[in-house]
Amino acid sequence: MYGAFLALCAVPALRVAADETCSVEYEQGKRGFKAISLNPLLYTPISHRPDWHWKQLLRSRGIDADKVSQYEEAWVGLLFAEAEEAITGCSIQGGRYWDLVLDLRKLYDLARGSAKSSLVQRLASAFRISAIYARESLPENLRLSVCTPAVCDADQVIRTIYPEFTRVFMGARPERMLGNATFRDVVDGDEVLRWDAFDIDFAIVGVDRCGTTSLRKNLEMHPDIVFKSDREDLLLSHTAARRLLPTRAQVDQHNAEWHAAKAAKWKRTGHEPRRAPPLVGMANPLLFPSALARDKMAAMPRLKLIVVLCDPVGRFEKLFMLRHYCHDDLRAAQKRFMAHADRDGTEVCYRSTSAIVTERKGYWQMISMAPHLATLAQRFSGRIFFLHQDELRDMPRSTFDSLVGFLGLPPFPEDANFRRYNSVGGHRTDLCSNASLVSALKELLEHEYVMQEQLLRIWGKSVHVRTTRCDWIDKVNTTYCPNENGQPVAC
Ligand SMILES: *[C@@H]1O[C@H](CO)[C@@H](O)[C@H](O)[C@H]1NC(C)=O
Ligand SMILES: *[C@@H]1O[C@H](CO)[C@@H](O)[C@H](O)[C@H]1NC(C)=O
Ligand SMILES: *[C@@H]1O[C@H](CO)[C@@H](O)[C@H](O)[C@H]1NC(C)=O
Repeated sequence: MYGAFLALCAVPALRVAADETCSVEYEQGKRGFKAISLNPLLYTPISHRPDWHWKQLLRSRGIDADKVSQYEEAWVGLLFAEAEEAITGCSIQGGRYWDLVLDLRKLYDLARGSAKSSLVQRLASAFRISAIYARESLPENLRLSVCTPAVCDADQVIRTIYPEFTRVFMGARPERMLGNATFRDVVDGDEVLRWDAFDIDFAIVGVDRCGTTSLRKNLEMHPDIVFKSDREDLLLSHTAARRLLPTRAQVDQHNAEWHAAKAAKWKRTGHEPRRAPPLVGMANPLLFPSALARDKMAAMPRLKLIVVLCDPVGRFEKLFMLRHYCHDDLRAAQKRFMAHADRDGTEVCYRSTSAIVTERKGYWQMISMAPHLATLAQRFSGRIFFLHQDELRDMPRSTFDSLVGFLGLPPFPEDANFRRYNSVGGHRTDLCSNASLVSALKELLEHEYVMQEQLLRIWGKSVHVRTTRCDWIDKVNTTYCPNENGQPVAC
């Protein structure tokens, strides 16, 4: 009888001791830990507030709002810097930083009788939400970030430290509101880490439609390079897109996937890397215009960036062909051109590319490159490599060798055969048969050409960026190297 009692108690007793260490350390450093807590860990877009709001907010934080061309970018930078500061401050205190998510509706369901209405009232006044009167109008969850002593694990943080942050809306004795449930039943949490916890060496960040697939697939042939998968990496565009700091689970998962990709590559090729460990790359051609993605990449000090540029007129034509050009047989065209599979033929389309000029509106800003390239060049100076698509076509071997040289690797093996993917040669639309349209477009895209010339000059390259594909269209055979079943085909 006595023995059984002891056995039952052994684990809880250890638990209590560990809880005590966590609590004691927390109490000792409480002021410091609390001062760092409660920073936002998710990016929220700026668009739901008027301009004057941001102007005031930025001014109040000492940022000259008139010099900031776009509040959005300044807002992203501000949120990001505060999150970085918080986690740095927390680790200086010898702590770990946690992202804790409270399921408000579950909490509401658990709360008994009168506790329900006082919960709702307190939430309304704490968060200045005007009219919360029923379960369905409660926000689904509430995130709080908390800095705790490093010895505390997730379970201890939620049971012993978290409750004190809830007094403002759960009253002086928060546990009472939960009845026989505990905070473990309504709170989910994960530690957050810094962006440099990702084990990654370089990234192809753009420009979309400029040969990024060829870049990735050819670089992958190098024995000392590994990509996580044979597709675009969604870490910064989807998985952790809104996060200001990544969770430990995200970091662990991605690092494990990269590790598995390395192992798979050596198994497949039978070659040991000549350099250990090999370099890990990620590719996502749509990262270059994202201010938040740039902040995250800047926070990974060893990450190098690769950007491939291409003729702006050709890129416009390709995007227009994919999204807005009328094809007599859309399905056949999609097969040939790997056009957006989500286009079903019911959307507005244009019979002539002259619509690029006549129907501009939002389309243009959406696909502009120059301002983003300028920011990248400045921000990643010394660890960014710009090249032009023409170099991939005209001198692949020396281009790829200098690229891996930039990454710190020896040249490609002698027998490497560099190919082109997703390429559509020859006439793709009516653009090249209309010389005045081509020159009108070139004029409208003048700022893009100027930016590309500046960048390539800095990188010591002599590429004639002002030749468009229409200049040599009749001199080469038409080629189609489309996407088949989502897989790019080479030629
Ligand atoms: C709390 O107790 C009630 C009845 O005493 C039970 O129905 C319910 O499942 C319990 N809840 C939890 C979360 O244990
Ligand atoms: C050529 O493009 C211009 C726009 O720059 C347009 O006005 C004209 O109609 C086009 N010509 C043909 C033959 O499509
Ligand atoms: C185009 O293709 C034909 C036949 O396939 C070939 O004879 C010719 O040399 C090619 N021309 C160029 C410029 O590649």
